[in-house]
Amino acid sequence: MSTLAVYPGSFDPLTNGHVDIIERGARLFDRIIVAILVNAEKSPMFTMDERVEIARAVFKDHPNVEVDTFDGLLVNYMQRRKANVIVRGLRAVSDFEYEMQMALMNRELASTVETVFMMPAAQYSFISSRLIKEVFSLGGKVHGLVPELVEKKLKERVRSART
Ligand SMILES: Nc1ncnc2c1ncn2[C@@H]1O[C@H](COP(=O)(O)OP(=O)(O)OP(=O)(O)O)[C@@H](O)[C@H]1O
Ligand SMILES: [Mg+2]
Repeated sequence: MSTLAVYPGSFDPLTNGHVDIIERGARLFDRIIVAILVNAEKSPMFTMDERVEIARAVFKDHPNVEVDTFDGLLVNYMQRRKANVIVRGLRAVSDFEYEMQMALMNRELASTVETVFMMPAAQYSFISSRLIKEVFSLGGKVHGLVPELVEKKLKERVRSART
């Protein structure tokens, strides 16, 4: 049996924490789909197309990593894609409560789907998209915390906001 994993999230923007989890997933499963949630936030910083473009560029040399978008219930998307594993990342105990609730709800909705949690490398365990956006907008350095392409796009955004 081949395992098709789905890593859902808003990825606004993709961080090196996400990249770490995706690379681990790509080693563990036959195939992993980075599934970007449409409408996760009312006012995302990056459009859906930009988020897709970034993730595709970052994983262009990983043949078993696919980038897709989804809307609505995750388990419906999983069923459509015939996927059997949900991948989620755990940074700290603070992630656990929400993640456990989601995993059990998804099991309730689709009993054959398993959620697998992975821990990132310690140096990425404090990164979230929200914090990256906050730090960058206040002038802090995010070098090494996000892919170079994301850093470039963040800088472009600031430059175009100034002109
Ligand atoms: N640095 C990280 N290390 C490990 N897992 C992570 C990291 N950042 C996010 N994740 C996990 O990735 C999945 C998708 O998360 P999500 O898209 O909410 O990213 P996020 O960085 O938490 O963004 P936001 O700050 O907008 O919530 C979740 O399972 C989340 O726990
Ligand atoms: Mg989050």
